[in-house]
Amino acid sequence: MNFDRELLEKGKEVESVIVSFLPKEEGWAKTVLEAMNYSVCAGGKRLRPMLMAETYKLFGGKDKVIEPFMAAIEMIHTYSLVHDDLPAMDNDEYRRGRKTTWVMYGDAMAILAGDGLLNYAFETALKSFEMPQTDLERAAKALSILAKKAGIYGMIGGQTADIEAQNPEIRQLLYIYEHKTAALIQAAMMVGAVLAGANDDQVKIVEQAAFEIGIAFQIQDDILDVTSTLETLGKPIGSDEKNQKTTYVTLQGLEKASCEQKKLSNHAIELLESLQENGFENVFLIELIRSLITRIK
Ligand code: IPE
Ligand code: IPE
Ligand code: MG
Ligand code: MG
Ligand code: MG
Repeated sequence: MNFDRELLEKGKEVESVIVSFLPKEEGWAKTVLEAMNYSVCAGGKRLRPMLMAETYKLFGGKDKVIEPFMAAIEMIHTYSLVHDDLPAMDNDEYRRGRKTTWVMYGDAMAILAGDGLLNYAFETALKSFEMPQTDLERAAKALSILAKKAGIYGMIGGQTADIEAQNPEIRQLLYIYEHKTAALIQAAMMVGAVLAGANDDQVKIVEQAAFEIGIAFQIQDDILDVTSTLETLGKPIGSDEKNQKTTYVTLQGLEKASCEQKKLSNHAIELLESLQENGFENVFLIELIRSLITRIK
């Protein structure tokens, strides 16, 4: 099957899973519920839930137990963007082709919508525990990975270092990328692996591959921040320069950044392909990761 067509179809499936878990906009707290759904429904590539579902399939997963976790990772990712765009952080006015949540609803409601999405992510993931076919031990392990990779030892830690860093050198920058970006990609893929019953060695391979995919993803994000347009990206370009951010591009230049991005992605693919020896293969997942090398948004 043609990759682009498969991507489109799988994208629709992921979308409908996410939408099915969104809260109803009703009651006295309606505004925050609207703001939460506004940011999630703006779209986005849905990369993390797709990587999760495909890693689950890689290890033979077939149940619906993955679905609450797919919605949960996208809620956490979206909350991270809602807060990242706030005036106190990156101060950006466009996201996913729309005005940012704080521009539409004000700072207070955007903060609360982010909080709401973070908490609702765990309320949603916990729904998998009520599904009759769920292996509770695997689900508990998956939940613990999700919690840790999203928190101070993961994404929040990375965002903290990103805000504080002044002229970071490459090692500090890699700490920031590993945590602010790679951690949620690791969570996505590791949760998929764990829920499908992958063993510890296999989960380690997935964690390392997702680390490399995540760093590559952030390097490409930095590249696009200089080379793309608002129309294509759906978010402002030049955000890093505006905020005087040191990035992979400012430290190494566009060409070296691009080269490194490719190298990391190809190595991640090699790692995942090493699982084929034991019969674990997902051609679409490999193509999806390969497509990130040349992504334009
Ligand atoms: C943006 O993530 C934030 C980064 C970690 C670079 P995405 O590029 O996946 O954003 P959406 O979900 O497609 O909007
Ligand atoms: C993204 O870093 C990190 C998050 C965890 C939200 P950026 O600040 O570069 O992300 P964009 O470019 O605004 O999407
Ligand atoms: Mg930022
Ligand atoms: Mg930003
Ligand atoms: Mg960026």
